[in-house]
Amino acid sequence: MAVPVVDAEYLRQVDRARRALRALIASKGCAPIMLRLAWHDAGTYDVNTRTGGANGSIRHEEEYNHGSNAGLKIAIDLLDPIKAKYPKVTYADLYQLAGVVAVEVTGGPTVEFIPGRRDSSVCPREGRLPDAKKGAPHLRDIFYRMGLTDKDIVALSGGHCLGKAHPERSGFEGAWTRDPLKFDNSYFVELLKGESEGLLKLPTDKALLDDPEFRRYVDLYAKDEDAFFKDYAESHKKLSELGFTPR
Ligand code: HEM
Repeated sequence: MAVPVVDAEYLRQVDRARRALRALIASKGCAPIMLRLAWHDAGTYDVNTRTGGANGSIRHEEEYNHGSNAGLKIAIDLLDPIKAKYPKVTYADLYQLAGVVAVEVTGGPTVEFIPGRRDSSVCPREGRLPDAKKGAPHLRDIFYRMGLTDKDIVALSGGHCLGKAHPERSGFEGAWTRDPLKFDNSYFVELLKGESEGLLKLPTDKALLDDPEFRRYVDLYAKDEDAFFKDYAESHKKLSELGFTPR
């Protein structure tokens, strides 16, 4: 599909869509699922074949029906009226903007957003997103395939400060933190505390503790929220631009 022309009218619609997203996300308390949608659209990227990425393909049934995307149709449907109102804005841009706004309205850092992603109708094969039951080598396989680093893996895992797992979606249950609508460094603080009553730790979360390279970032982010916010904002921007070269 053609690259969208990011002219003055496009920018105007992005601005209005951003305001509509702030209102929607605040009123529905749906920041967590919006962040997850943005991540699952982008996280299919393969740096070698340059396929997948932040291209809106998750809007197609073929892809949102992948096991790892269970529940995300809810987020897609919530965003459809905004897409209808601001039709110039591509799905790819809208989903990434929703992720950026979700972090912002819950108190997280400002993530720079550059518009211009193109939509694709080509869905990646199932299996490109991480499997929560696995360990550090798997996390590296998956995130290195996207072209991301160890630091990105740990910083982005801090996104689990928001939201919770739903048994009917993933088979896991519960939130990672005490206030799952607040974006902060509590994911790392809780991770270091070990098992805490009622809070979730996926095998992939625990893997960040056991691997020395990952662990140094966990220790840093738990004690220094500013360092977490700075690194998170950089890693989230990279994630949101997988498969997209801003011009
Ligand atoms: C939820 C796995 C990375 C953001 C979940 C759930 C699982 C999971 C199993 C529960 C889904 C459900 O039952 O509703 C993983 C694994 C990752 C990973 C294995 C590998 C590191 C990320 C990243 C982000 C993210 C990089 C964003 C930066 C979220 C959010 C939720 C979530 C916000 C909560 C969704 C909700 O409340 O509806 N993740 N995730 N995750 N994930 Fe991740």
